[in-house]
Amino acid sequence: MRILVTGGTGFTGTALVRRLREDGHSVVALDYKEGLQCDALRAMGAEVVIGSVTDRAAVERSMRGVEFVFHLAAAFRELNVPNSFYDEVNVGGTRTVLEAAIREGAWKFVYCSTCGVHGNVDHPPAGEDAPIQPADYYQRTKYEAEPLVKALAPASMETVILRPAAIYGPGDPERFFMIFKRVARGSFPMFGSGRTLYHPLYIDNLVDAFMLCLPRGAGNGREYLIADEHYYPIQEIVEEVGRALKVPVRIPHYPVLPVLVLGHVVEKLCKPFGLTPPIFPRRVDWYRQNRAFDITRAKRELGYAPQIPLDEGLRRTGEWYREMGYLAATGGKP
Ligand SMILES: NC(=O)c1ccc[n+]([C@@H]2O[C@H](COP(=O)([O-])OP(=O)(O)OC[C@H]3O[C@@H](n4cnc5c(N)ncnc54)[C@H](OP(=O)(O)O)[C@@H]3O)[C@@H](O)[C@H]2O)c1
Repeated sequence: MRILVTGGTGFTGTALVRRLREDGHSVVALDYKEGLQCDALRAMGAEVVIGSVTDRAAVERSMRGVEFVFHLAAAFRELNVPNSFYDEVNVGGTRTVLEAAIREGAWKFVYCSTCGVHGNVDHPPAGEDAPIQPADYYQRTKYEAEPLVKALAPASMETVILRPAAIYGPGDPERFFMIFKRVARGSFPMFGSGRTLYHPLYIDNLVDAFMLCLPRGAGNGREYLIADEHYYPIQEIVEEVGRALKVPVRIPHYPVLPVLVLGHVVEKLCKPFGLTPPIFPRRVDWYRQNRAFDITRAKRELGYAPQIPLDEGLRRTGEWYREMGYLAATGGKP
């Protein structure tokens, strides 16, 4: 098939493009900026179109001849932008990509949403029908695109919505890297009790789930939470990272509320000057928001079966950070 992956040069996009190419599909990746990752994708045999999902002409260029769309591009890590940027990219961009897919006659559209649409999970584990309660502009805009996809897609087009949990693995540029970096230094400051639940998702397990959406009829009209088999208190995740790296780690505890207040203040102060805040509420939410999910629906209906457990996933991830020299560098960022 000729398949478009928006956000194809991102962490998840790259892994998906690689697997699709290995399976013999013709792949186009649409992404924002030219960069090293574009060359990596070209080396895999994918085409790369540079342009924003908000740019209709660029989206149409990338859509030529496309039969199947994985829509992954999202404003996600951008910090020093107005909140409206998230609406433009995550909601407006999804509309633009979907409309172009409809015009091109693509038969299936898979939208990569997030487990974050459920915000803090009050009664863990949450299934797909748990309350939708996005807690920030990222989660809100990711959710708003879900009903849009269902409403705009014609009857002739299949749609699937995947809500991945916390993705990690080799190539993860940010969240788990921060845990690894601190653990490698031997100390991880824990704000709060450390009992907050967190649901990891190893990148290969997520790619398996995407691939299960390829056959006709698979998951049509449904949304699915995708996560690893188990969820954990965040303290256990930090300890497991220590075991993966084979380093002893101290975990001193501090109260979370002052950091949260500080995060709000710092974010407000940085925004007018276009500065990237060193601390902001979304980051602090990691210590506070319960994220634990029930993946029964994906198992039953898609045949999803996460293959890589946490210890193995963390071991592979740590190895990759070490090979790339990221853990040796102080304060370095992949
Ligand atoms: N990481 C997680 O834990 C997680 C959890 C749940 C759901 N998700 C979802 O999974 C998807 C992939 O996330 P990821 O972790 O792989 O993030 P990522 O590495 O930041 O990938 C997102 C990609 O989208 C691209 N992009 C951003 N804005 C764009 C625009 N306007 N036009 C075209 N491309 C644009 C980015 O390009 P640049 O790099 O050039 O900016 C990047 O390549 C996203 O939809 C995200 O919401 C992620």
